[in-house]
Amino acid sequence: MRSSWHLSQKTVSQAYALVSPVYDLVFNRIFYPGRVEAIKVLEPGPEDRILEVGIGTGLNLPLYPHYHRLVGMDLSGKMLRKAQARIYELNAPHVSLTVMDAMRMGFADNTFDHVLATYVISVVPDPTQVLQEIKRVCRPKGHIVILNHFKSEHPVMGRLEGLMAPILTRTGLFKPDLQLTPLLEQAGLIPDQIQRVNLFSGWRLIRCINTKEMSPEVGPIEGGTDGL
Ligand SMILES: C[S@@+](CC[C@H](N)C(=O)[O-])C[C@H]1O[C@@H](n2cnc3c(N)ncnc32)[C@H](O)[C@@H]1O
Repeated sequence: MRSSWHLSQKTVSQAYALVSPVYDLVFNRIFYPGRVEAIKVLEPGPEDRILEVGIGTGLNLPLYPHYHRLVGMDLSGKMLRKAQARIYELNAPHVSLTVMDAMRMGFADNTFDHVLATYVISVVPDPTQVLQEIKRVCRPKGHIVILNHFKSEHPVMGRLEGLMAPILTRTGLFKPDLQLTPLLEQAGLIPDQIQRVNLFSGWRLIRCINTKEMSPEVGPIEGGTDGL
């Protein structure tokens, strides 16, 4: 089922505050091909309201065809400060950022048309809770796109990832042995496409169509750049 090793939110926050100065240098190139594909399958329209969960330093921002209604949230103010600098560089004033916990989002139900989470879902203490929150804030039939590394189905690789899990989880950077299928089942998400991306096809890009009943209220986007 899910990884038996648990991330502590405090350790995750400390880890990303620490790596924020070098994050782009280390992670941009390795993760880039997956990012390009993720924005493609998200299929954002010019008027769509997009949420990026755990936006980090905003490395996906240059890849969006439109910036009009994008909200980025992250737990780390330090990562978001980098994203804010990127927003100025890109001259994308309509992107707003907010410090928020993905497990308890402060957005109303159905606020967004589509939601993207790249390299985040194995970084949160409770990935199922995050996916449930994503479903809640995304409108029915909206696209939910997850890009992440999941535990390999290859017996040797899977075993190696299991062995590395206690060390990597303790660093707070990510847990390498999160399993995709049980996670989607627990969150009640059915993928309409899955592709393998990045080096050695080691990461998976999953798109789900949000299948849920429409609730009567569609809430506004919470704007502004909070707590940076
Ligand atoms: C590996 S980075 C990915 C950043 C970005 N999505 C990217 O593609 O480069 C993981 C990010 O998740 C954020 N994060 C971790 N736990 C979180 C939580 N509970 N709520 C919101 N963001 C969180 C971290 O602060 C970090 O910025």
